[in-house]
Amino acid sequence: MATIDHNEHEGGVTRRNFLYVASGAVSATGAALAAWPLIDQMNPAADVLALASTEVDLSAIPEGQTMKVLWRGKPVFIRHRTADEIAEARADDNADLRDPETDEARVQKAEWLIMVGVCTHLGCVPLDQAGEFDGWFCPCHGSHYDISGRIRKGPAPLNLPVPEYVFLNDTTVKIG
Ligand code: FES
Repeated sequence: MATIDHNEHEGGVTRRNFLYVASGAVSATGAALAAWPLIDQMNPAADVLALASTEVDLSAIPEGQTMKVLWRGKPVFIRHRTADEIAEARADDNADLRDPETDEARVQKAEWLIMVGVCTHLGCVPLDQAGEFDGWFCPCHGSHYDISGRIRKGPAPLNLPVPEYVFLNDTTVKIG
């Protein structure tokens, strides 16, 4: 697994914004394929690719930081939320939401917000910790998402989607 830190300057402050991680995809059907080594080795079937999942070590993500991992060719944002961010997200559960969802319905553990980082308008990748709602901002046409990834302003119709995932232990999550 290779990790590359990208430093950003914002307001004169340097901070580690995203940790980009290229992690190996794990196929749930790997064992089955190993049993049939001569079948289609060079040309994995679409259903094999569709089952690919990615395991992420959460201990590498400090509180208040977002890690971006690639999963099935798409960015997935994993944010280690602070207590203030969780409180802010939950305080807005009853706000006028375009795509109504409680924050609790979007997370398995309150401190870990995991979602596909693709704008639901036309598919750009939103910027972390930007916009009017302290969450994500899509600069393509100006969509603002809150700290729960819910669409709050701009042309995007839906919240940032939450992928299937499972916690394998306290510090490892499997996406997909
Ligand atoms: Fe994000 Fe249009 S693609 S606002």
